[in-house]
Amino acid sequence: MRSFIALPAALSCILALCNAANVGVSNRTQYKIYNTGNSKCFAVDNMFQGNSNQVLIYDSFPVMFYGNADCSNIVSMNYKGGWTDVNRPIRSFQVIRPDNQ
Ligand SMILES: *[C@@H]1O[C@H](CO)[C@@H](O)[C@H](O)[C@H]1NC(C)=O
Repeated sequence: MRSFIALPAALSCILALCNAANVGVSNRTQYKIYNTGNSKCFAVDNMFQGNSNQVLIYDSFPVMFYGNADCSNIVSMNYKGGWTDVNRPIRSFQVIRPDNQ
């Protein structure tokens, strides 16, 4: 009986994982992978404040990168693919989702 009760919780967990976007940011020496389940403004580590960064989008949602911390100064928009050069400082990003949650 217990396993039947636990099933909906396990399912929603799997769905939440499926809905999460993974975004990689690199300063060519070190990189970080950020995981976010929504399209809120997400501040990145200050190691990406130099002019030579790369980004990697793992999921089908496009991602906007910003030079400031509050997602108002766009520096790049990127799509799923390999590591892509962004020769500007990156301080935040936002996953562009159709539901805009
Ligand atoms: C990348 O970030 C690391 C950690 O902060 C730092 O040690 C390194 O010098 C940075 N590399 C570049 C090219 O900025």
